[in-house]
Amino acid sequence: MKVIKKLGVIATVFLLLILSSPLFAQSGTDSGGGLESVIKIMIAVTVFLVAIIMWLVLVYSEKSETAEQSGFSKLMQLLNQRPPIEDEQKLLLDHDFDGIRELNNKIPPWFMAIFYGSIIWALVYMVDFHILGSGNVQEDEYAEEVQIAAMEREILNRSGSLVNEESVTRVDDVAALASGKDIFVKNCAACHGMGGEGLVGPNFTDEYWIHGGGIKNVFKIIKYGVPQKGMISWQAQLDPTQMQEVGSYILSLKGSNPPNQKGPEGKKWEESDDTESESGLLSDKGVGEIQEIILEDIDTDLAKMGEEVFVAKCSACHKINKRFVGPALIGITQRRSPEWIMNMILDPEKMVKENKIAQQLLAEYLAPMANQNLTKDEARSVLEYFRTQTN
Ligand code: HEC
Ligand code: HEC
Repeated sequence: MKVIKKLGVIATVFLLLILSSPLFAQSGTDSGGGLESVIKIMIAVTVFLVAIIMWLVLVYSEKSETAEQSGFSKLMQLLNQRPPIEDEQKLLLDHDFDGIRELNNKIPPWFMAIFYGSIIWALVYMVDFHILGSGNVQEDEYAEEVQIAAMEREILNRSGSLVNEESVTRVDDVAALASGKDIFVKNCAACHGMGGEGLVGPNFTDEYWIHGGGIKNVFKIIKYGVPQKGMISWQAQLDPTQMQEVGSYILSLKGSNPPNQKGPEGKKWEESDDTESESGLLSDKGVGEIQEIILEDIDTDLAKMGEEVFVAKCSACHKINKRFVGPALIGITQRRSPEWIMNMILDPEKMVKENKIAQQLLAEYLAPMANQNLTKDEARSVLEYFRTQTN
């Protein structure tokens, strides 16, 4: 009876330890590290238990020579429940192999405690992670990390520290252009004219640029200036986002045809690889085995099959209507050519290596698009499904 009571104490302590760990985990986490701290606590508890047991074994082996029952040897006895040597006769099983005989020893309580403990742990884990879903399974955790990374990037982007002459893109939202105009009027109009028609500095409204057109060249000149020609470097006064905005504003002046224009200076700038324009995007077929796809009327059966493939193979990273790990895919067929979409599905690695749009997407989303090994027919069906998801 006494033994059972003691056993109960051990089991309870063990249980409490296990149950308390998810609580620790919740309070002690930073963003999304729940699983990590649960694992840490599990490891800590295990190490702690192993340490105690080893220590006890040490102490026990020292003490066992002295006959007197110390507290430690009592505890050892409690953990092991080994029967006294005199009782061995009772435990002997009655079989005998070549003189080797077997004792019907009980499984020691410490072992049972760990055994039941791990079953309970598994239950708690299963309920937490797979039924309630309050813990993150690996896949969610990945998605969450990617989202956090995207958010951090967004913050960096806003602060402008990621915008440089290599990465700068032309912005065209109204707020950014308005802010660009503001900066222009305050800082640049004195030399470049209120409407960008050119004064001391060159005209921004024609197609001629001394140092090359396009946002990257313009940004570079704004940032570093051409001091020997009277154009100062602005990086001390303007932050990168502001330089991006004013650069985009300048580019938006093209063709505005203000009065008193200064004559052309420099070379005519051809925006040959202008991937920013819609038609440029739609004519890009990507790289891969799909060269030509001719679209006919939407085949609803095929689209239905495509939807199934999409749900099974893509929805872990893509939602139709909102950004997830990858981009929202609504209206994708209005943004990209069918060949590009198929190539992206069938061989994203190659696309990211060789296609400019795919590279820009990767830079924006930070995570690579996974190759889900679809067959050509499956990819075609997904394309058909995308055709039904337009805005
Ligand atoms: C003190 C006069 C002055 C001010 C102020 C000034 N610029 Fe300039 N800018 C110039 C001159 C002069 C050049 C021509 C440099 C050359 O010939 O290489 C120039 C050239 C440029 C070019 C390159 C044009 C080309 O054809 O390649 C850009 C872009 C530009 N400026 C943007 C700006 C912006 C943006 C501002 C305000 C933030 C600004 N500038 C303020 C005098 C000025
Ligand atoms: C592991 C996550 C993941 C899976 C699974 C995944 N994708 Fe993607 N996908 C992405 C990411 C991230 C991007 C954007 C960044 C890039 O291109 O690397 C992307 C980009 C795309 C694009 C280009 C979107 C655009 O705006 O141009 C298409 C189309 C696409 N995925 C389709 C699919 C299809 C169809 C499937 C299923 C067969 C799929 N993806 C499975 C993560 C994924």
